[in-house]
Amino acid sequence: MLQWQIKEMSRDHLEQIMEIERKSFPTPWTRSMFIYELTSPISFNFVATMPEGRSELVLGYIVFWMVRGEVHILNLATHPSFRRLGIARSLLLFCLDFSYKKGGVLYQLEVRKGNRAALNLYKKVGFAPWEIRKRYYADTGEDAIIMRLFFGDRTFDQNSYGQPFLP
Ligand SMILES: CC(C)(COP(=O)(O)OP(=O)(O)OC[C@H]1O[C@@H](n2cnc3c(N)ncnc32)[C@H](O)[C@@H]1OP(=O)(O)O)[C@@H](O)C(=O)NCCC(=O)NCCS
Repeated sequence: MLQWQIKEMSRDHLEQIMEIERKSFPTPWTRSMFIYELTSPISFNFVATMPEGRSELVLGYIVFWMVRGEVHILNLATHPSFRRLGIARSLLLFCLDFSYKKGGVLYQLEVRKGNRAALNLYKKVGFAPWEIRKRYYADTGEDAIIMRLFFGDRTFDQNSYGQPFLP
């Protein structure tokens, strides 16, 4: 069984992250966007890695902002050769746990309407559609689904990932 660990992202991971990024998105983030996130006080950046010889292989990563109780997930991707193994789910759960402990209450993200893999993943951890932003993505003209998860009035529990934030 594949095992990985989740740790803070550093500049040493960026070369591998850029490879994954280019294979994962129609408009990939640039290296300087990641460097900006690594220096921002409101940005939290983590990677899932496993040992590979003397170095390590980046399997996936997550970037999120936290401002007071609000958490915004900005980027999440898994290496194309290691998908469907639970890596993105574990990164998301790590993000929820980490930010909940720091006072996170409301979690939000945007996802392309046609991204079935990501929609399923987010629903699985408790996010629910909140609103649709028409033609939000400039590259393809696709709509964005804004999804939210609310932890306002209950204790975080690994077996029950929170309540959808319904209107
Ligand atoms: C979306 C993405 C991050 C999922 O990563 P992953 O590590 O393969 O996801 P997981 O293995 O943790 O999957 C967890 C659940 O998500 C759903 N899911 C993941 N991939 C799926 C797919 N291809 N089709 C349908 N559902 C999928 C399933 O419910 C899955 O649970 P299951 O395997 O028990 O059925 C990955 O496909 C990816 O990097 N895509 C390109 C970048 C991207 O779209 N990022 C999200 C931007 S909003």
